[in-house]
Order: sequence, then structure tokens, then C-alpha cells
Amino acid sequence: DEMLLSYLGFLLTFFKINYGPLLLTPYITSGDITTARTLSRVQDEEGVIPPSHAGFITVDKKLGNHLFFWYFPTTSRRSEAPLLLWLNGGPGASSMVGLFYENGPLRAVTADSYTAWNKSWTNSFSMLYIDNPVGCGFSYSENIPQGYRTTDEEVAMDLYSFLEQFYTMFPEFMSRELYIGGQSYAGKYVSSLGYVLHSNIQSGASKLPFRGAYIGGAFFDPYTQISLAVEFFYTMGALSWKQRNEFKETCFRNWPNGLACDAGFIVRILDYDSMDNYMAPKKFPEFIQNIMNLEKVKKILHVGNRSFQLINDGVNFKLGEVILWSTKSKLAVLLDNYKVLLYEGDFDARVPTVGVEGALLTMPWSLQEAYNNSKRASWYQEGEQIGSFSRTGNFCRVVLRNAGHHVPHDQPDISLTMMEHFVHFGCIDSYI
Ligand SMILES: *[C@@H]1O[C@H](CO)[C@@H](O)[C@H](O)[C@H]1NC(C)=O
Ligand SMILES: *[C@@H]1O[C@H](CO)[C@@H](O)[C@H](O)[C@H]1NC(C)=O
Ligand SMILES: *[C@@H]1O[C@H](CO)[C@@H](O)[C@H](O)[C@H]1NC(C)=O
Repeated sequence: DEMLLSYLGFLLTFFKINYGPLLLTPYITSGDITTARTLSRVQDEEGVIPPSHAGFITVDKKLGNHLFFWYFPTTSRRSEAPLLLWLNGGPGASSMVGLFYENGPLRAVTADSYTAWNKSWTNSFSMLYIDNPVGCGFSYSENIPQGYRTTDEEVAMDLYSFLEQFYTMFPEFMSRELYIGGQSYAGKYVSSLGYVLHSNIQSGASKLPFRGAYIGGAFFDPYTQISLAVEFFYTMGALSWKQRNEFKETCFRNWPNGLACDAGFIVRILDYDSMDNYMAPKKFPEFIQNIMNLEKVKKILHVGNRSFQLINDGVNFKLGEVILWSTKSKLAVLLDNYKVLLYEGDFDARVPTVGVEGALLTMPWSLQEAYNNSKRASWYQEGEQIGSFSRTGNFCRVVLRNAGHHVPHDQPDISLTMMEHFVHFGCIDSYI
């Protein structure tokens, strides 16, 4: 049976590729789940890419908006292993950054080679990577630029529509926990999506098993975080007193209608690679774009003749001023109702911890005072301090040592352990 199915899958896949990108929504809506699952199978003859599923789910039929995903079942034997959604930020960045550079089961090596990565979060969890919003990575709109999203709410509705369809396709996940997460600007996506999930679950419109959210180097409260980033650079000696003051006095003059100055000057003080980790600057792996555009990869992923864009500035441009709007009040709702983990690396200059703290101290949730008065504890492993953490209600706060903006890249073992502690115990259990 399995063999027949996989032969059928091969035939279907073979013919599908000649027609274009694999759009799964027609099968999902007609209830033909078997075909959707079979067609989306990722089978690598070279044996480097683990068995997985990839394809497109239509989130707006009228506009022709299709989100690309790549889903890896966990390799752990725990049948109840949760599903983790991972989103990169930007806005405009593909989530393949996470897959090939941070916590996925593959590592980009050169512009045309990749290898299996055995410290992947798939060791403990099923991982779902979505190129989001429409326009990023392989995700696309048949109507550019009208199809590109202009608000946090639209982006969240697309992700929500995606998830409902994904769960129809993989109903076994209804009985496992769902955690939504990602990094950086995905702090806004995750808070907005979590809010939509919460509202729909409350009203009975959704039954998705949403249990929590996790965000690394979270950007979700731009005014507070940008103001405090200025203090961070001043503290580091990268800004003079005069530059610090000028920034504070002039840049927020037009707020909330954008920054009245070129914030890029801060970025240019530290070189680009140092922003992500100021103790161990690294070249951002732009060549992931090349890998995703290899004919053999495109064929395996059923993307037809679509081309892949690692960073799409068009998406960024279309969101415009909305990029600077806060989603703090939505994140507050999540803090009051779900398990939430916020973590950073101590060498992250792109989203420095001091800014995240500022946002958290003014977070409008029921335990704000308790968080204000919380104390950090050290997290030790074999006698070495690897981070610090605090727990306030269901909120877990972690800062890891010797890591930058891409925490799972810089600390693969520790970040996976952190996720396991969060999922199983709610936060770091330092006595384990
Ligand atoms: C992971 O891969 C490395 C190098 O590729 C190898 O040395 C190591 O033994 C592997 N670990 C596991 C747990 O498979
Ligand atoms: C893909 O093929 C279709 C139909 O042949 C064509 O209209 C479209 O422009 C192609 N897209 C890309 C990205 O090459
Ligand atoms: C928590 O601290 C922040 C920053 O000092 C302050 O603005 C906020 O009012 C405090 N909240 C409570 C409930 O004490």
C-alpha cells in the first residue's frame, strides 16, 4: 500500500511539476486530503533532505495569494511532540533563514550545497516554516503590488487561514500542542497571529490546539525599543552624547508617522555583520537564495517555475509606517492566557535586550508589577553559566550568553534545551 501510494505520488508529482507551483487548497477544500499529502511529499533521492512536505496554500483566492511552507515531522519518538511554527522577520525575510541557518534540519554550506544538520529542533518537535507575508521567499501573489499586505491584521489573517487549512491536511496535529514563534520582526507577526487565534478560539470559531508563543530577539514595540537601542549604542560608546541627544530630540518628532531621521546611521556605526552578533560578526548567509533557486531543489519542493527571494523589499515597502506600530497590547493578551517565552542573545545589537526589557516593563498585562519586581536566576550547565532567566506566571524570560540575534545558530544545543524546558516545564528548570 505504501509503495503503491508513493508510486502514485511520484506520478502525480511528476506531472504536477510540469504545470507549475503545487497549489494544495483545491484538494484541501474538496476533502481530498490523501492527494494533498501525497503531492506535497518532499523526497530527496540524494538522501540529504529529510522526508518532509512542501507546497503552497492559498490564503486569498480573490487576490491569488499563496503561502509557501516546508514542514518537517519530528524525528523524536514522542508521539505527542508539539508542532512549532517558525517565522523570520524583516519584514520581507524568508523563513528559510531559520531553516538553513538556525533551527532546521539543513545547513547551507555554499551557494550550491547544503548538508543535513543534526542539532535541529526537529529532534524534539515538528517544525513548520512558512514564507510570510505573501511576497517573501517562494510565497507569491498573482497581483503585485495589490496582493501584498498593508497591515499587521491582514498578515495575521493570512497566517490564520493557512493554519486552519494545514490542520485540515494534517489532522493528527489537533491532538498535539501548537506553539507559534519566530524571530525579530516576527515578534509582531506572532503577537498578531496569536491574538487572532485567541479571539477565534474564544468565540468557538477555531479548535486549533494553540498553547503558547516563543520569540527570539523580539521586535514588537518600536518606539520603546528604538529609543532604548539608542541608549544601548551610547553605552557601547558607538554614539557620542551629542548624537544620542540629537537622535532623541529630532528623530521622534513626527511619531507615530515614521522616524524623522535616518535611523540607518546607527546601523552603520556597527557594521552590518556585527549588528547580529557584536562579539562574533558573521556574514548573513545570503546564498540561501541561490540554494532555493537550484533546479533540483525547486523540483523537490514542487514550486514549478517560481523564483525565490530571500529578502523582498517590496513587502517591506508595502507595510510602510505600519512597521513602526506596536503590537504590545496583543502580546499582553497572550501573556495573560498562554505560555510565552521571550529570549535574546546577550550579543544581539539588532534587537538589544535593554529595548525588549523596556517594552516588557510597560506591557499592559495583569502581572506587570510582578514582572517589574521579578529577579533573574542564573542558568548553569555543567558548572558553566549559559544564561539567565525569570518566570512570572506563564511568562518565561531568558537571556542566553554568547549568542547574537540568530540565537539557534549561535547556540544550537542550548537553544534546543531551552525550547524543551519551555514546552515541558513552562520555563527553565535549572534542577534538571
Ligand atoms: C552530528 O554530526 C556531526 C558531524 O557531522 C557528528 O560528528 C556527530 O556525531 C553527529 N551527532 C549525532 C548525535 O548524530
Ligand atoms: C512561469 O510560467 C508561466 C506560464 O508559462 C509564466 O506566465 C510565468 O511568467 C512564469 N513565471 C516565472 C517566475 O518564471
Ligand atoms: C513597571 O516599570 C515601568 C518602568 O519603570 C513603569 O513605567 C511601570 O509603571 C511599572 N509598572 C508597575 C505596575 O509598577
